[in-house]
Amino acid sequence: MDDRPIGVFDSGFGGLTVARAMIDLLPGEDLVYFGDTGRYPYGPQPLDRVREYARQITTVLVEQHDVKMVVVACNTAAAAALDLLRFEHDVPVIGVIDPGVRAAVTVTRNGRIGVIGTVGTIGSGAYQRAVRSMRAPVELTCTACPGFVEFVERGEFRSEQVHVLAERLLAPVLDGGVDTLLLGCTHYPFLARTIADVMGREVVLVSSADETAFEVRAILEDTGQGHRPGSEGKHRFVSSGDVATFKALGRRLLGPELDDVEGWEWD
Ligand code: DGL
Repeated sequence: MDDRPIGVFDSGFGGLTVARAMIDLLPGEDLVYFGDTGRYPYGPQPLDRVREYARQITTVLVEQHDVKMVVVACNTAAAAALDLLRFEHDVPVIGVIDPGVRAAVTVTRNGRIGVIGTVGTIGSGAYQRAVRSMRAPVELTCTACPGFVEFVERGEFRSEQVHVLAERLLAPVLDGGVDTLLLGCTHYPFLARTIADVMGREVVLVSSADETAFEVRAILEDTGQGHRPGSEGKHRFVSSGDVATFKALGRRLLGPELDDVEGWEWD
């Protein structure tokens, strides 16, 4: 048994989709969520800089919050830094890219999967590498969706503007004849209805959140590091941006577990 919390981080609100799945699957686990809203969005920034941000946050989670595991609930940060974080820390570090690919591969029937993500994630080639290393017999059509994250961070999920943008940005995956669309950015599940409207009924949307939570559970079981049974998990939220905004929108997105937000300032 290990009663230390699990650390989860993202550039902002996106990782709350993963946190939600973890809270539902592992209600006894304590969680510390770090949203780097003071420095978001990560997607358009150089991967070197995102890697540095990911290292800084992981250090805060490990050294100040004494977490037993880190979940990089951000595709851009995982694409930039996952291997390095695993090398630098003794605790398990879980990303969202492999779990997302596993979920999409089990769903597709025609073997054609679309992947949408930030400019940083798509440009990194991380999804192609993940598919290759799993030897999955699928064909990917990957496309970046710049602008989607900003709509989510503004709390705007169903406007005419986001619909128009989605029609333009999703054209390549529609043309690719995909039957499965992997939401390769943890912010995108909040836009799922708009994305589904554009993609049509035949295309199944897949997010990495549930599969990532399953992976966390499997590791806790394998290592015997689960929280003592019977207790209800405590959930802490930290934001490097405006705390009141994080609290208001975060609560709308995650639910009642988000009842307080602590501020964090980078030096
Ligand atoms: N949620 C993040 C991801 O999964 C990135 C959002 C951003 O900051 O651009 O890639």
